[in-house]
Amino acid sequence: MKRLTKLAQESSRIIFFIIPFSLLSFPNAAEPADTNYEEANVPEYRLPKLIKSDIRNPNAVTDWHEKRRPELETLLETHVYGKTPTNDLGPFETRMLDSDPQALKGKATRKQISIIIDASRQLSIDLLLYLPNEAKGPAPCFMGLNFYGNQTVHADPKIQINPRWMRGNTQIGIKNNRATETTRGVYHERWQIERLIDRGYALATAYCGDIDPDNYQHDFTDGVHPLFYRKEQSKPDSDQWGAIGAWAWGLSRMLDYIIESETAINADQVAVIGHSRLGKTALWAGAQDQRFGLVISNNSGCGGAALYRREFGERIHHMIKPVGYWFCGNHARFAHQEQALPVDQHMLLALVAPRPLYIASATKDQWADPKGEFLAALAASPVYELLGKTGLPTQQWPKPNTPIEDTIGYHLRDGDHAVTAYDWEQYLRFADRHFKH
Ligand code: GCU
Repeated sequence: MKRLTKLAQESSRIIFFIIPFSLLSFPNAAEPADTNYEEANVPEYRLPKLIKSDIRNPNAVTDWHEKRRPELETLLETHVYGKTPTNDLGPFETRMLDSDPQALKGKATRKQISIIIDASRQLSIDLLLYLPNEAKGPAPCFMGLNFYGNQTVHADPKIQINPRWMRGNTQIGIKNNRATETTRGVYHERWQIERLIDRGYALATAYCGDIDPDNYQHDFTDGVHPLFYRKEQSKPDSDQWGAIGAWAWGLSRMLDYIIESETAINADQVAVIGHSRLGKTALWAGAQDQRFGLVISNNSGCGGAALYRREFGERIHHMIKPVGYWFCGNHARFAHQEQALPVDQHMLLALVAPRPLYIASATKDQWADPKGEFLAALAASPVYELLGKTGLPTQQWPKPNTPIEDTIGYHLRDGDHAVTAYDWEQYLRFADRHFKH
């Protein structure tokens, strides 16, 4: 609930952007006055059908893979995230900037690789890898984008400071939209790298702004979008990808690199993970790119794991003004019209099936509708069953700090919108269960 205040702190620019609209939806840059946090005010709703054919039909599994799955992906593209272009601009040139087998007191090998997307516009995805030195074979890996540059994920002095445009953030000392030394290691708690390495996992991360700057005055000129424009096109069409689509595309390019060039990572065991807007991104990346072996959403909320139709916490009309560019243009048509959306987010989650999926919520993160995140996971479970797996093992929304899991895992952590050691403990246990047994 303090989140919009946090959002405003993140950038001086956003203040200019939010204030004119705040009279409408963000009074005092605090939570919008029309936000519903009462369960009693959740409208009666009916979720659009996930599976059309009778699951006892002998063709039901083939129908899912060949018909329904592609249909759902198209619906989510058309109405929520926009279509990701399929032109293959690769293979991209890569440059190894650093490789140090003695990182983290000798426990890990650190690599920094630049995946050059467009040399003429100095567009590259600067990938940071930590690989566990003790691994007996190719290691499983967590892959996720970060908000403010690789140097924020650990205090390791060798991590390059990201030189690109960044949202201002007074808390971590980002002034003039550039990161400096003050940001080194500020988000180490969110990444728990030593813990991952000790448990035999690799980490792969890059700054989301390498792919598309998360600029609230977004005009689709500075990230990867222009690489795909037709002649004379200057912004995506209303059914084409927004920033989330671009970030998800970037995650797939990072995975390409691992598949092609990093033998220390088991490319079949890459878990894509993200927090908040980057949790929405991890879900969309995992839904589209079935090479991701496991998908984790941390507090992704509206436009992520939460059901739109509950109209609880953040809603489409709250996002459209400040961050509509995360989605496709068509998405704005459903402002105040959630019940008319041809999709809901159980469909996004079902696209991950039969691969393991973990959804995490937090008690004080009501803006993200924790219960709606749980209910979407529950509503996605029939597709897991169709494909021979158990989705969520129970229908009851669990109490705080009581994880439940089968092929879908879920927990409601006590506390704020954040990624904590507690969250990672659950992700590691879940990944061990699916990758190591
Ligand atoms: C805001 C936004 C959320 C988003 C979050 C974040 O709170 O309203 O939709 O998840 O920012 O990414 O931090």
